[in-house]
Amino acid sequence: MIKALIASITCCILLALGAAAQTTMQLAVNTNAPGAVISKNIYGHFSEDLGHCIYDGYWVDPSLNVPKQGRIRMDVVEALKKIQVPLLRWPGGCYADQYHWSDGVGEPSKRPKRLNAVWGMVLEDNSFGTNEFLQLCDLIGCQPYIAGNVGTGTPQEMSNWIEYLNYNGNSTLAEMRKQNGHEKPYNVSFWGVGNESWGCGGNMTPEFYSDQYKRYATYCLNYPGTHLKKIASGSNGEDYNWTEVCMKQIPTGDMWGISMHYYTIATGNWGHKGSATQFDESEYFHGLKNCLHIEDLVVKHSAIMDKYDPAKKVALCVDEWGIWTDVEPGTNPAFLYQQNSMRDALIAASTLNIFNNHADRVRLASLAQTVNVLQSLILTNKEKMVLTPTYHVFDLFKVHQDATLLPVQFFSPSYTYNKEAVPAINASASKDSNGVVHISIVNIDPHNAIKINASFAGAANKNVAAQILTSAAYTDVNSFDAPNKVKPAAFTDFKMSDGNLSVNMPRLSVVVLEIK
Ligand code: AHR
Repeated sequence: MIKALIASITCCILLALGAAAQTTMQLAVNTNAPGAVISKNIYGHFSEDLGHCIYDGYWVDPSLNVPKQGRIRMDVVEALKKIQVPLLRWPGGCYADQYHWSDGVGEPSKRPKRLNAVWGMVLEDNSFGTNEFLQLCDLIGCQPYIAGNVGTGTPQEMSNWIEYLNYNGNSTLAEMRKQNGHEKPYNVSFWGVGNESWGCGGNMTPEFYSDQYKRYATYCLNYPGTHLKKIASGSNGEDYNWTEVCMKQIPTGDMWGISMHYYTIATGNWGHKGSATQFDESEYFHGLKNCLHIEDLVVKHSAIMDKYDPAKKVALCVDEWGIWTDVEPGTNPAFLYQQNSMRDALIAASTLNIFNNHADRVRLASLAQTVNVLQSLILTNKEKMVLTPTYHVFDLFKVHQDATLLPVQFFSPSYTYNKEAVPAINASASKDSNGVVHISIVNIDPHNAIKINASFAGAANKNVAAQILTSAAYTDVNSFDAPNKVKPAAFTDFKMSDGNLSVNMPRLSVVVLEIK
């Protein structure tokens, strides 16, 4: 919950008859009542063996003329390092529950070729497997988060995988890891026990899954040096019963977290999700409205978790989120390739503000799916690479990683479309270990700038610097021909005096202020 919500304000000031309305609102950052630490793992990402995320995304043909380490594309790695990606989830998604880890280790030419039956029946040559994934994480400097196979796997298979990864002895599995080039254990700790077990992960009931979780988790062993953070496969959006049953049946000491998946569908229609680039204000409005709905889900799932876990030991892990649109015309529908617009940047920033404000329970999240799939950070086309507007949001927001949440109080003016209304402004704030305060503010209103008068107890005489991400149209994208259309810039339309900061938030903008 946002600890202290809603205080005062807002009034509309009509500048002159017939002129556009300039809205002003008050916002208070409570620097004296720090909240939870915003786990850096809220800023995690998800990459599945799907379309061109792994293959042709990170893992490229040896002949491709880009900097590479082995077959790992280093310009992609460098871009992810820059935004301090803390965690990467793999191999799925739905693919996790048909993936057998032993297919992806050992001499690459001897690895079996399998059909990727979930994503387009393409041939999976398994050249990217466990060791390659962990090498990728190592290059990025992030923690691996592996989703184990419950749907078509066995407890023995899952147990073996963990022994292969984490055991520092002379067992046959540990020796196999050493022969495959990694002498030391990998110390993988984030461990998903299945994925979407209510659907592609086995179509289970929550009662059946809870029993399966306990069965599999029994054999997920902690080897010296690594304590597994086991994460139960959680609900599909509003399925509160799933959370209720799992929390009731699985002892809280036996799971580090439980997941929740929620995708923003701008049209609200999975059969026709809408284009990533050609959409009108109705789709824009509903995309943002459906994105903001994730706060309701977080609040309601957290309330259920509070009943069984009042000390909040179990994390809510939103390990799949983001906007899902129709694929780009002419691309394989099973590959989920979509462009990424200014709208998507506003969706990312608003969602991250929500996660920050619920950092007491949301302690891990991963956006779907990093490169070339769904709400990507990066798009590639042969040698070319483009950073999306969503990438830039993660760059601006990285200042919140592991900082302490500072509650913000405000009452937002509305963005109204056809008699429906959503808050135009969302925000979150934090203080880092050097005492620097950051506040991230989003104005989703496509028509109106909003003036924010912000008060910060104890912030008098501080220096302020800011960056903005904005664009003329919510449909604006970064393309291979124009890769820098939407990118951050220095922002100066603010004034600090006597601890009061006034900020003119342009329409369609994300602003991150640094106060030190
Ligand atoms: O991210 C695409 C798919 O969405 C994942 O494989 C699955 O977990 C979810 O339904």
